[in-house]
Amino acid sequence: MTDFASIKYGEKEWIYPIIEGSEGERAIDISELRSDSGLVAYDPSYSNFAVCKSAITYIDGESGILRYRGIPIEELVKRPDFVEVAWLLIFGHKPEKDERERFRKRLTKNAHLPERMRHHFEGFPATAHPMAVTSAMINALSCFYPELFNSEWDVEFEEISAELISKIRTIAAYAYRRSKGLPYIYPDPKLRYCANFLHMLFSMPYDQYVADPEIEDALNLLFILHADHEQNCSTSTVRIVGSSQANLFASCAAGVCALWGRLHGGANVAVMEMLQQIHDGELTVKQYIEKAKQKDSGCKLMGFGHRIYKNYDPRARILKASCHRVLQKLQISDPLLDIALQLEEAALEDPYFTERKLYPNVDFYSGIIFRAIGIPTDMFTVMFVIGRLPGWIAHWHEQREDPTLRIARPRQIYTGPTPTSGQNCAEKI
Ligand code: SDX
Repeated sequence: MTDFASIKYGEKEWIYPIIEGSEGERAIDISELRSDSGLVAYDPSYSNFAVCKSAITYIDGESGILRYRGIPIEELVKRPDFVEVAWLLIFGHKPEKDERERFRKRLTKNAHLPERMRHHFEGFPATAHPMAVTSAMINALSCFYPELFNSEWDVEFEEISAELISKIRTIAAYAYRRSKGLPYIYPDPKLRYCANFLHMLFSMPYDQYVADPEIEDALNLLFILHADHEQNCSTSTVRIVGSSQANLFASCAAGVCALWGRLHGGANVAVMEMLQQIHDGELTVKQYIEKAKQKDSGCKLMGFGHRIYKNYDPRARILKASCHRVLQKLQISDPLLDIALQLEEAALEDPYFTERKLYPNVDFYSGIIFRAIGIPTDMFTVMFVIGRLPGWIAHWHEQREDPTLRIARPRQIYTGPTPTSGQNCAEKI
């Protein structure tokens, strides 16, 4: 039985249906609001807006729950297999044996970049930010797939998903090698997804890098935890760009740019800068906490807070445990982890943070593990891209398959000059 909500304005009242999701979330369907009433709803950060219906990921921010296609994240990291989770997100179920085999073959076949693309990396300065390179190279990659530009492109979606998911590793590794002036290492068809990526990052022509199984597991776990998070800023960007019928590569390249921001995926780099600042003695833990509470300081406790989680981010809880496991296995003692633990303890005892329900998020501990693996800090957000790519692809595909899809085109409230306001700019031109 459908529920209804009413909106009254002046002498008039309009009735709108309530739609309900499979986990009981409810929304007022105001698709006809403007044509009925001339009114639009105003919410600049979309905090109160459901911009789509999706069956991919469910988050309960109050309870700290995250599920991919109904499976709790805690279950998916028990035996971490990022390729399996990528398939789950994109195709809606864990891969059958034949599907897994076919997808792995596609990933292996598609790991190489078109040879001419190698020269594109040389066009960037060695100091180029790897996120700029990554976004540019994803778009450049589309030039090698002209079929993508046909509006009725009939490329097999599994193949093109494998292309992107496989090649993003090679793009990331080559961006890193370029920045260090190192030779490019070709993918090794005998290696699994994460081991191959580490091989391309760290091998030398005379010395093959062999990933420790614990490190390989840690990387699978990290990529799984970053793989999707419903309508976050970058995924919404991918959906908005895709809604204009832009191709998958262009949409994901846009997602990279959105993820780059310090308030989003760029936070994992900002967390390490914050921890290093405290480690270098510029500020004590207590001084940093106090500074993060001052609105005019321009400083935030990076890796803390979340638009949706008003409880501990379940990914942060898993990563905190993984930090200890990986560092112990590698016999590394990282002073930045100790500082992170002190910051968390101090913040969670401070009413400023507890009253605002600010807890560690996915970015607070992830950098400690990336650093232990040997990933340089400026590559941390690129690691987030590799993890998030299956989520972007899944959402782009889910939207593309929706027969009711229309181009995303929000409205605004105009506050500029009017012909009668006396501010008419025409006179000044
Ligand atoms: C990711 O959306 C997703 O799902 C994103 C993500 C994903 O997987 O895709 O989870 C990945 O982006 C995680 C977030 C990474 N960013 C950071 O760690 C940057 C630090 N965090 C903040 O900038 C902030 O918490 C956000 C951006 C994460 C959330 O911002 P909101 O929802 O707009 O919250 P807000 O700014 O309105 O904060 C509410 C209050 C404010 O104080 P008051 O005005 O109430 O006095 O809390 C304060 C804020 O000043 N606050 C913080 C804070 N975060 C919020 N104060 C100090 N330090 C912080 N980190």
